[in-house]
Amino acid sequence: MAKIKTAIFPVGGLGTRFLPATKAMPKEMLPVVDKPLIQYAVEEAAEAGIEQFIFVTGRGKSAIEDHFDHSFELEYALRAHSKDEALEVTRAMMRTPGSVSYVRQQEPAGLGHAVWCARHLIQDEPVAVLLADDLINTGDAPGCLSQMVNTYDSEGVRGGNMVALMEVERSQTQSYGMISPGEERYIEESRLIEVKGLVEKPPPQEAPSRLAVVGRYIIEPGVFKELAAQERGAGGEVQLTDSLAKRVGQAPFQGLVFKGSRYDCGSKIGFLTANIAHALERPELSESLREWLRGQMASS
Ligand code: G1P
Repeated sequence: MAKIKTAIFPVGGLGTRFLPATKAMPKEMLPVVDKPLIQYAVEEAAEAGIEQFIFVTGRGKSAIEDHFDHSFELEYALRAHSKDEALEVTRAMMRTPGSVSYVRQQEPAGLGHAVWCARHLIQDEPVAVLLADDLINTGDAPGCLSQMVNTYDSEGVRGGNMVALMEVERSQTQSYGMISPGEERYIEESRLIEVKGLVEKPPPQEAPSRLAVVGRYIIEPGVFKELAAQERGAGGEVQLTDSLAKRVGQAPFQGLVFKGSRYDCGSKIGFLTANIAHALERPELSESLREWLRGQMASS
């Protein structure tokens, strides 16, 4: 089975939608309950078998580097106060030495530009891309990237490109990369849809379907060759969607309708609902939160 060993995390975005919170703090460090968004994405990748973690950062993002490193003072203090559980939490998130790298994106020129910035750190093999803004909760089922990796090696996908898909309202198409769907099939209960075309953020009347790409990708080396042209697309940015679209017909291309709930944590409402949904799953919080919510509903 071809293993996907490397994941790219583009974390260079400015996060203007969350100002002032993100003035001096990376948006990827915003917590859902008590864990930063980026850590959810890294844990999802690790669960899917990823061994190399590449962060494409930018100015003002050093908190992310510190987050995935030892904090000697903190660990010392926790040990001194026998806070074993907290110590374990900080230990468990440490990755194998040398498996995390950082590359700077010098300007926020788009997702395609960010991914291309990682080109010297990867081998000639398929890699995963995870957007931490898209928080995907799959409950007890495998994580979204695991679901993709598990089907990636099947007939008609191997060595090609794969995106995670979900259906959206037609009025929402301008927020997503949208696909033209081809043949549909099931592999071990996973719904796979052939991707025959992609377009970045089309207006509703021009959208080829209601199937939207969410922020999980497996991309093959041919995509990097297309990215090298650094052509600007929607919004004047270098779009990953455009380079992927050029690979249609050149390499296998499938979309996986993943099982789970996706929260758009790049928007305030998505971020708030993600917090509530995740808190409701935590035994120590759910009862009091439910009670408070019931009270709010009753008085509204
Ligand atoms: C990016 C991609 C878009 C994709 C979306 C998923 O857009 O460019 O194709 O559908 O992520 O969240 P962004 O939300 O960064 O503008």
